[in-house]
Amino acid sequence: MAESVKVMIPEEEVSKRIEELGKKISEEYAGKQIHLICVLKGGVFFMCELAKRITVPVSMDFMSVSSYGDGTSSSGVVKIAKDLDESLEGKDVLVVEDIIDSGRTLYYLLEILAKRHPNSMKLCTLLDKPDRRVRDVKVDYVGFEIPDEFVVGYGLDYAQKYRNLPYIGVVEGVE
Ligand code: IMP
Ligand code: MG
Repeated sequence: MAESVKVMIPEEEVSKRIEELGKKISEEYAGKQIHLICVLKGGVFFMCELAKRITVPVSMDFMSVSSYGDGTSSSGVVKIAKDLDESLEGKDVLVVEDIIDSGRTLYYLLEILAKRHPNSMKLCTLLDKPDRRVRDVKVDYVGFEIPDEFVVGYGLDYAQKYRNLPYIGVVEGVE
């Protein structure tokens, strides 16, 4: 069977949900400025779409982490491959992720970022796979809870492919 992608969450549904999240976040941060942190590369599509739907002032920064693992599961030992450009001191930080799976990457990352003295720090993820959680991370905003399936699209990749799909899908036909 040739490799193909089956749609799990269509583009319109993803857009609608991001719109709702943007509205909720804008209300909860009324009168403040949000410092959005994107975890590259997967979080970038979601963060851009979300930022466009937030109506309070935002600033943005990007970081890249690599976690030592076997490719399909993370070990929890995270290396910062690209650090943030700006300090977090006194800022209202919102970390934006593509997906939380075991929670190991985020658990470790949030620990590092908390030491940089933000005024507040919250977490927003497009997708959450709660069944796979091994580290307890508090997620403040979730786009969709999904079952334990490997998904692609909207920034998520399978061997660096499919990040550009405008919907969330499941890869079929791979060993
Ligand atoms: P965690 O440390 O297990 O929570 O791993 C989180 C990271 O693994 C995410 O930021 C993704 O980069 C990657 N990941 C986890 N599940 C999937 C998936 O279903 N598709 C694509 N990447 C995934
Ligand atoms: Mg990620």
